[in-house]
Amino acid sequence: MKSKEPRWLGADLTQLARVGSTNQVLRERMRRQHVPEGAVVLAREQTAGRGRLGRVWWSPPNQGLYVSVLLYPPRTRQGGILSLLAGVALTDAVEQATGMTPGLKWPNDAVMGGKKYAGILVEGGTEPQPWAIVGMGINVLGTVPEDFPHATTLSQELGKDVDIEGLWRHLAKALEQRYEQWLEDGNAPIIAQWKTVSVTLGYAVEVRTPSGLITGIAEDVSDDGTLWIRQGSDRVPVMSGEVSLRLANGAYAPRT
Ligand code: BTN
Repeated sequence: MKSKEPRWLGADLTQLARVGSTNQVLRERMRRQHVPEGAVVLAREQTAGRGRLGRVWWSPPNQGLYVSVLLYPPRTRQGGILSLLAGVALTDAVEQATGMTPGLKWPNDAVMGGKKYAGILVEGGTEPQPWAIVGMGINVLGTVPEDFPHATTLSQELGKDVDIEGLWRHLAKALEQRYEQWLEDGNAPIIAQWKTVSVTLGYAVEVRTPSGLITGIAEDVSDDGTLWIRQGSDRVPVMSGEVSLRLANGAYAPRT
């Protein structure tokens, strides 16, 4: 999707050198005062970056884009789709910044060359109105330490440096545009776009869900973002979890 200049996303922009977590900074600001929709906190380094499932997000100085964006989704809409929407917008932005089309592993792991280069953490609530903080951590420059064998950086995959500021400009445009598309046209176009870059559908997968492990073929993602797993004649819905793809040797990887 070709993106226009953002109008409201990033109009309220806080740029910091070093923070614990950009999601946390935005949340603390919301506790003190009303914060406008589209407010952004960007940092060059995080000392306590938060990942999904209580993990720490590796956030070394000047190597990544660590950003959080505040949205107020309408009360009548399911905010759960926002994490897939953010993945679609990130893919648009990387495509525009680098000319490469990366993939998305359900629900929103951003992958290139079979490895994860970015993660998305959406935190939200309903009071005093529905809100969502979309936190995105993108490994842009340098290389990842050896103890992250399933992770990569954009420059590592592309073989050249990527401009972090430029990537942010593309991401702000893409996120605003995809969010407005969602407000206007609903979930279907976002899910349709997600499917075009999926590296999940059609694969044999193992999904770690809150209620246990599910294995089967990832068959579909419905318009509410649910992943459907084919198990013989059954189809099992998965609302949240972590997907590992089955490799040729029968092992499941990567579990990022
Ligand atoms: C994941 O585990 O895949 C999600 C990682 C999300 C990391 C980003 S970095 C910016 C924002 N602030 C945080 O503390 N976490 C998110």
